[in-house]
Amino acid sequence: MRVGILTSGGDCQALNATMRGLALTLYRNVKDVEIIGFIDGYKGLMYEKYKKMKPKDFYDILNVGGSILGNSRCPFKRMRIIENGFDKVKAMKNTYKKLELDCLVVLGGNGSIKSANMLSQEGLNVIALPKTIDNDAWGTDYTFGYSSATAIATRYLDEIKTTAASHSRVFVIEVMGHKVGHICLSAGIAAGADVILLPEIPYDIKVVAKKVKETLKNEKNYAIIACAEGAISEADALMKKKDYKAKVLARNGRSVAYEVADELSQEIDAEIRVSCIGHAQRGGNPDSYDREISTRFGVEGARLIIKKHYGEYVVLQGNHVTHIPLEATAGKLKFVDTEGEIVQSAKLVGISFGE
Ligand code: F6P
Repeated sequence: MRVGILTSGGDCQALNATMRGLALTLYRNVKDVEIIGFIDGYKGLMYEKYKKMKPKDFYDILNVGGSILGNSRCPFKRMRIIENGFDKVKAMKNTYKKLELDCLVVLGGNGSIKSANMLSQEGLNVIALPKTIDNDAWGTDYTFGYSSATAIATRYLDEIKTTAASHSRVFVIEVMGHKVGHICLSAGIAAGADVILLPEIPYDIKVVAKKVKETLKNEKNYAIIACAEGAISEADALMKKKDYKAKVLARNGRSVAYEVADELSQEIDAEIRVSCIGHAQRGGNPDSYDREISTRFGVEGARLIIKKHYGEYVVLQGNHVTHIPLEATAGKLKFVDTEGEIVQSAKLVGISFGE
């Protein structure tokens, strides 16, 4: 049996742990299994960049961050576009055929899963595993990388608190998460933020200012605003989609946290600073939960391959690792449940969402 594997999209902490779980299960349970590792995600499959893996490549990578195969972004939207006469989908199918693969394993986030589903519809045997620090993949309660990233964001918020206290400052701290607010919500609660701004709950800067003023008056000499990178004001949420897109583009990479700080400075008389955690959230080694769950995800992927049960997406439901059809999920986002217990508990301890 010959299995191809690739790590697609942004990296995260437990890619290697997941590949190890899958590879060790296959090596131990399938006779004559060969694993082909594609370099830099789908690009490796397109341009025939790969290496024949050996068991020893996988033995000691459980706690190592990043990906031993490398990552790249290959947006789904561009997959089907023929560029300079190069048909990417055809090229990937050709590589798959040429290498006589029995199956392709994709470790990826939403965009990559969409592409995996497309390849499955094109007739390849595909298994996908849920990767992303954002935890925004529909159909699974967990995507590996999320716990490690949230722990880093929490530590960062904690560390800002001491300097904020020394200087009696207000901090707006930007947290990753793309279009959803899962990391920001969890890290914000874990670090005791005063305000949490999420894409799912548009904020009113006057409400944010009121909460900050109350905090400075009644509770402590500093305030922490955890701001998701996709946070949006009520006014912006009412804009036409294309106008809002233009506004985001005009920011030219400057994060939304600066906008929040600018707006807030019009409302309160306090020193305000902005701090962005950035890619450190995807860096370093996986925490214990990510190592464990990724091993289980990898094992489930191998189980599916052994059963030749393709076109499936490995997911966590409750505390049970299982699988759902790839086509059921491809690309759907899982947002923060704004009426759910997590947000409600945060409100009960006094965290404001600026609404
Ligand atoms: O999807 C993971 C993620 O880290 C998002 O939280 C963030 O918006 C994005 O990737 C950053 O992407 P890049 O590494 O391409 O800058």
